[in-house]
Amino acid sequence: MATPATTTVLVTGGSGFIGSHIILQLLAGGYNVRTTIRSLKREEEVRQTLKDAGADAGERLSFVAADLMKDEGWREAVAGCTYVVHVASPFPIEVGWLLYRTFDEGYYLCLCSFQSMRMTSLYPPAKER
Ligand SMILES: NC(=O)c1ccc[n+]([C@@H]2O[C@H](COP(=O)([O-])OP(=O)(O)OC[C@H]3O[C@@H](n4cnc5c(N)ncnc54)[C@H](OP(=O)(O)O)[C@@H]3O)[C@@H](O)[C@H]2O)c1
Repeated sequence: MATPATTTVLVTGGSGFIGSHIILQLLAGGYNVRTTIRSLKREEEVRQTLKDAGADAGERLSFVAADLMKDEGWREAVAGCTYVVHVASPFPIEVGWLLYRTFDEGYYLCLCSFQSMRMTSLYPPAKER
């Protein structure tokens, strides 16, 4: 039976205001958390922010570099996750091409990678069944 301790939740935008609060809640609930940031150079800063807020996550928190404007990283980000909380976005944002790219294409990159990973685990290629 799945428990929080055996469940990994992807939170996109872990360096952000909303994302970091969601991570804190998930860690407090006993979940494993993976989060996306655009540059892994920010990992220590994010860990410190969470630590300052009372969560020393250790190995229950992992980071993947992924940008909503690029294909790379999203499959790795969703791999093995049971849930996705997608909150990464430029903020504040003006209506225009950036809004389209990050909200629409970014949403597609993140959530379709997740859907694809879930479908592959439910229906593996015939040679793997
Ligand atoms: N804050 C509020 O009061 C509030 C209220 C209602 C709704 N919201 C919504 O919640 C969402 C997040 O808001 P927030 O306040 O948490 O904003 P934030 O503090 O500015 O955080 C934005 C997050 O999104 C990431 N991000 C930005 N552009 C990205 C890109 N191209 N690819 C991947 N990640 C990207 C940032 O990562 P980097 O570290 O790489 O920049 C950061 O982690 C927004 O959609 C906002 O409209 C916020």
